[in-house]
Amino acid sequence: MCGIVGYVGKRNSQEVLIEGLKKLEYRGYDSAGIAVFTEGGLQIRKSKGRLAILESQLQQAPLSGGIGIGHTRWATHGKPSDINSHPHTDNSQKFSVVHNGIIENYIALKEELQAQGHVFVSETDTEVISHLIASLYDGDIVKAVQQAVKRMKGAFALGVLTEYEPEKLVAVRLQSPLIIGVGEGENFIGSDIPAILEYTRNVYILNDGEMALLTKDGVELMTIEGNFISRETFHVDWDITTAEKAGFDHFMLKEIHEQPKAYRDTMSSRIDESGRKVILNEVKMTPEQIRGIRNIHIVACGTAYHAGLVGKTVIEHLARIPVETDVASEYRYRSPIITPETLVIVVSQSGETADTLAALREARRCGARVLAITNVVGSSVAREADDVIFTWAGPEIAVASTKAYTSQLIAFYLLGLYLAQTLETQEEAYIAELIAAMQQLPGKVEALLAQAETVKQVAEQVAKHDNLFFIGRGLDYAIALEGSLKLKEISYIHSEAYAAGELKHGTLALIEEGIPVIALATQPDLFEKTVSNIKEVTARGAYVIGLHTEGDNELAKTVDQTFAIPETLPLLMPALSIIPLQLLSYYASLARGNDVDKPRNLAKSVTVE
Ligand code: M6R
Repeated sequence: MCGIVGYVGKRNSQEVLIEGLKKLEYRGYDSAGIAVFTEGGLQIRKSKGRLAILESQLQQAPLSGGIGIGHTRWATHGKPSDINSHPHTDNSQKFSVVHNGIIENYIALKEELQAQGHVFVSETDTEVISHLIASLYDGDIVKAVQQAVKRMKGAFALGVLTEYEPEKLVAVRLQSPLIIGVGEGENFIGSDIPAILEYTRNVYILNDGEMALLTKDGVELMTIEGNFISRETFHVDWDITTAEKAGFDHFMLKEIHEQPKAYRDTMSSRIDESGRKVILNEVKMTPEQIRGIRNIHIVACGTAYHAGLVGKTVIEHLARIPVETDVASEYRYRSPIITPETLVIVVSQSGETADTLAALREARRCGARVLAITNVVGSSVAREADDVIFTWAGPEIAVASTKAYTSQLIAFYLLGLYLAQTLETQEEAYIAELIAAMQQLPGKVEALLAQAETVKQVAEQVAKHDNLFFIGRGLDYAIALEGSLKLKEISYIHSEAYAAGELKHGTLALIEEGIPVIALATQPDLFEKTVSNIKEVTARGAYVIGLHTEGDNELAKTVDQTFAIPETLPLLMPALSIIPLQLLSYYASLARGNDVDKPRNLAKSVTVE
């Protein structure tokens, strides 16, 4: 995830910026840069790779000046490279911008600016901002930024400098966090509190649609419409470790809570303004090539494989193309029938998983087209696939995958709809209904997260057991598998996920008095069948916790405890029903005193076969 630091004051800004960026390294990044207003004007140093590379550049050619902005970049638009690193500037080199987030309409803005003669050097959406501000500048940087922001769609946090007003630093927030640190004779901006904690504990937290003008002597807060705001500073009493986790106890919990944003970011710019159509510009397959797809193989590992299981149902339902889902470590060795009419979809958060990468290479060797769903721009999977859909979840630090998984689900929904549009396998009205329901998912995830305390109480009971079952049918079974993996991974409780109808073929023998069974019953078409299967385990003494949809009063008659999931279309239910299961694993792990973020024996990125 990108990081922003900005400084204006009595110190040499280069040191403050580098120290601040170091405090943001934990967020993950692939390049870094700073801009400082020096005696010779606005100077920029930036480079791909670790901060140490930038630091050694600065040792050779230091920058001296009391005002500057810095950035660590996690690539989204354009690969990690020196040119794509921030800060970005305009053709006059008089304006400099650092940016977190996504500018959805950057292509339209870029074309407009190019028509006016602006020349762009990078692949980023950010560069558009510096050109846009330059084109609107009329002697007042605050006004130019306000006008530019009105033209920009998306989610962003900005730090802006101009050589024309060298004592001013402008900051803006729209759906991407930004804070202002208030010191004596110096002021700061940061995308995150750790960036400035060494210098001040008094901060303003900008709200969406707010901006700030910083000089060394003061901070003016205002809305992007220009109305001044008066607000008390907030005193931060967190230590640096708590601040890195934005006040959450663990990265996993922070990442679980970042899911509404991850859903929005992954959808943003991929749904057209009418809300009736999916746009996947990154998928280069022509309609003719899409019509030529005879079958699809989805290949992945672990949690990403579980996303693929949902993806299979979604694509088969929407696009009516047969889909097989394989664990990547098995795929190559079973001599899969891959032809040039096969589309192979590889799913990988890291984009570096050795088994998934090997499957991708095998698929390409056999002449198939490969589409990747990944979270990391510039990763091996992203580089080697023919098409890539990036999940804009931001870096995931906890070993247990949460926001990357749910963003993979969103990517599958978008892909399924895109294929259906092209193949005309679904009514336009149904596609529009699904899109509208998808846009409501982030709010529903927020409602689920608000019930964390209820889940915690269940988890504390579950944590007392050594064995547990998850059951469900259809999409509920796919979620049962993911819920079970999450629980095993971080709580070390032995759990099994079963297709509910399969229990009676053997596993029912393990059900005994008091054993917890988590039963998912969110799919209306399968509800009655699932209830029958639940009765099979309650009859043998299991303690059943049932997940159902809000408004259903039936499940409570059969199970010991229920948890309601907000209503949505059944196909979209996995994007909601997994949330309480993630929380359940988290709190069970906590109750057992485990290292939640770094479970034993596991690594975040598995680069060996
Ligand atoms: O980076 P990838 O998505 O390719 O990783 C695949 C699995 O190793 C990963 O999903 C793993 O199962 C997670 N730790 C589960 O939370």
